[in-house]
Amino acid sequence: MQTQSLWEHTLTFFPQFLATLRERVAPGATVAVVGVSDGKFVLPLAAAGYRVVAIERDAVALHGGDVHLPGDSQAHALGLIDRLKLEELHERVEVVEDDFLNGEPLGLQCDAVWTSCSWHYSANHHRPLGEFVDRMRRLVRPGGMFGAEFMMPV
Ligand SMILES: C[S@@+](CC[C@H](N)C(=O)[O-])C[C@H]1O[C@@H](n2cnc3c(N)ncnc32)[C@H](O)[C@@H]1O
Repeated sequence: MQTQSLWEHTLTFFPQFLATLRERVAPGATVAVVGVSDGKFVLPLAAAGYRVVAIERDAVALHGGDVHLPGDSQAHALGLIDRLKLEELHERVEVVEDDFLNGEPLGLQCDAVWTSCSWHYSANHHRPLGEFVDRMRRLVRPGGMFGAEFMMPV
């Protein structure tokens, strides 16, 4: 990839998820990612040939902008949409700019769903964790893959 995600160095089990996906789900299938940020997982999924539904509530993560970094420094970050265009992957990705807990559950049945380190966000504390998990479960077709990881260390 020509650019790096701001979350590049957060530990993750995504490589195991992607390896299992490749065994079980053919390229061209659709994977939903909840809390995509600037695309740490969306870009490799799209590059592997999957269609991706990318759900994110944060406008800076999607469109880019100034971000605070540890050490009280600031930087301009590219958002998901520009990163996808740079890699010419944007046609494989549908971006849903919304809070995943807003309104009715998305009426989609994907082949797999993935999230990393989104459940504990303070924006979600007004609803039970089970509701987030249930909305993710409804996004996957029967027999599809459900992947989630929670509060991974940096
Ligand atoms: C810690 S970041 C992780 C980014 C990326 N998934 C990773 O692990 O590298 C979690 C992301 O989930 C998003 N998120 C959390 N709750 C959300 C919700 N209810 N709806 C949409 N996005 C959400 C946040 O805005 C944030 O961009």
